[in-house]
Order: sequence, then structure tokens, then C-alpha cells
Amino acid sequence: MSDTLCARLGIDVPVYQAGMGGVAGPELAAAVSNAGGLGHVGCIRRSAADTRTWIRETKALSDKPFGVNLVPPGGGADGFEAQLAVVLEEKPAVLSLFWGEFADAIGRAQNAGIVTMVQVGSVDEANRAASAGADIIIAQGTESGGHVRGKSKLDDLLGPVIEAVAPLPVLAAGGLSTADDVATVMRKGAAGPWVGTRFIATLEAFAHPIYKQRLVEGRGEDTHHAKAYSYGWPFGTPYRSLRTRHYWDPLRWVNGGVRPHDKDNFARRLSLYCGQGVDAIDDIPAAAEIVRRLTLESGDA
Ligand SMILES: Cc1cc2nc3c(=O)[nH]c(=O)nc-3n(C[C@H](O)[C@H](O)[C@H](O)COP(=O)(O)O)c2cc1C
Repeated sequence: MSDTLCARLGIDVPVYQAGMGGVAGPELAAAVSNAGGLGHVGCIRRSAADTRTWIRETKALSDKPFGVNLVPPGGGADGFEAQLAVVLEEKPAVLSLFWGEFADAIGRAQNAGIVTMVQVGSVDEANRAASAGADIIIAQGTESGGHVRGKSKLDDLLGPVIEAVAPLPVLAAGGLSTADDVATVMRKGAAGPWVGTRFIATLEAFAHPIYKQRLVEGRGEDTHHAKAYSYGWPFGTPYRSLRTRHYWDPLRWVNGGVRPHDKDNFARRLSLYCGQGVDAIDDIPAAAEIVRRLTLESGDA
């Protein structure tokens, strides 16, 4: 399944970098794709023009396949439909979708020759995505960093989703940082890992240096799955983040990601999107090195 999917997408190795709003820009997507995996630009809240700019910048940095991630409720200044129109014109290899209803977006992308992925948090949602014609399903467990769609841990979700949508390929998401983590989900039938947090701590991620360093220092037990205030989302939307240590700091209650141009003060004090696999992050290498590590046979590291 894993090899078949790589061949279909024209990639060399089954490493799928998650489309992460803001922090997954052209440099990261191109670096992952140039290393043989599938990179993704995360275009939530970008205008249609900015979405096009990121797609073109990625094309300029890589002639390999890559994906564009859209989140319909976070369509940016021009809305989801305008972002989608840009994707249909620019024709990246893959469109991945997360959260909410996608109406006819899947069929329209496929008519433009674009492979579609939908990230889900339950078997019901997986069935709906499969019925809507999605080519690939991403099963997201609650170990995941950023916004978390469902209520099940990856271990409980992956098998039932694979069974429900067979023969569609299913990627596994949530806390995957090492070759051993990847081997575990592949043994359970995943076609590959969909990896977010591990790729933030890389040279190419569009994340503030303090964010990257906090991932190096952070522990899985410091992350929490909660529903409070997360920047740009309705209050009460569930996410997983690395909490600020200082309990009384008001910014502890604000959750988000921070980019290079954001204030150091925010990067130090905000609770930052982060998955439970943060324990295994202890350096900030090039993204290609992470692709290489994730494809090592277990025990080779
Ligand atoms: C900083 C950050 C931003 C994210 N933004 C998005 C997004 O815009 N679209 C999306 O589909 N998923 C987003 N996610 C969730 C990822 O797709 C994926 O489920 C998650 O990163 C997997 O868990 P991991 O971070 O432990 O690898 C985000 C995750 C993180 C950490």
C-alpha cells in the first residue's frame, strides 16, 4: 500500500509533512519534497493572492510533487472558494483538507488532476470523506499538535478507519517523531505517517526560533489537549499545545504558533501548538535530515 501510494504520487519515500497553517511555508514544503517525501504548504487564513504566491514559490524551489492544505472555515480574507479557485488553477499534486464541510471541492480538485486527502478524527468522518470521493484519508489521533478533530487516540482510531475506508490508503497522524513511531503505524496498516510537530523543529520551518527551541526543550507531559482560546479559531475548538510553564502568565491561556517576525515575548510566553511526540525532538536539523531519519529501518538510527 505504501509503495503503491508513493508511486501514484511520484514520491520516493512515504513521509508526508502535515500542512500546518503559517509555519509550513514554501521552504519547508520544497525541502521535504526535494528529499523525496511529500511537502505541504499550509494556507489557512491566507488570501487567494498569498496562497498563489506560496504555491509559486514552492514550485520555484522544487520540481517535485507537493501539496496545498486548506481549512474551509479558515479561508482567509477572500474565503475558501477563492483559495480553492487558485489551487484548481495552479494544480499542485495534492490538495489536503481539514475541518468542516468541503462541498464539491474534492470532485473539482480531482477533475483538475489533483489528488485529494482529507484529515479526519473519527470513523464517521472517514466514511463521509470516502463517500465524497477522497483519494486518501488521514486518521488524526488526539496526540496530534495543533487543532484536533476527534476524541480517539491514534492507536484506537487507525485500525477502524483503515477497515472502514478500505481499499483507500490511510495515513496516520499524531505524535510521530521517529522511525520507530513510523514503523509502528506502518505495521498497523498505515500507508505512511503525516508528520507535523517534528518538522517545525527544522531549519526551513517558518517558525520563530524560540518556538523551535521550546520544542527541543519540551516534554510530552507538558502538552495538553484542551478547548480554550486558540488564535483565529472559535473559543472552545480543541487543540494540543505545549503549555507555558508560568501558571499565572495570562499568555498561558492563549494558544497558537509563532512565526519568525512575531514578537519574542509572544514566542516565549504563548502556549504553542505541539504534539505528544515532542519528547523525541532534541535538535533543529534540515528537513531533509528528518525525512532521512523517518525512513530508517527500526534500529538503524
Ligand atoms: C503548528 C501546527 C499547525 C497546524 N495547522 C494545521 C492546518 O492548518 N491544517 C491542517 O490540516 N492541520 C494542521 N495541523 C495538524 C496537522 O495536520 C497534524 O494533524 C498534526 O501536526 C499531527 O500531529 P504531530 O504534530 O504530533 O505530528 C497543525 C499542527 C500544528 C502542530
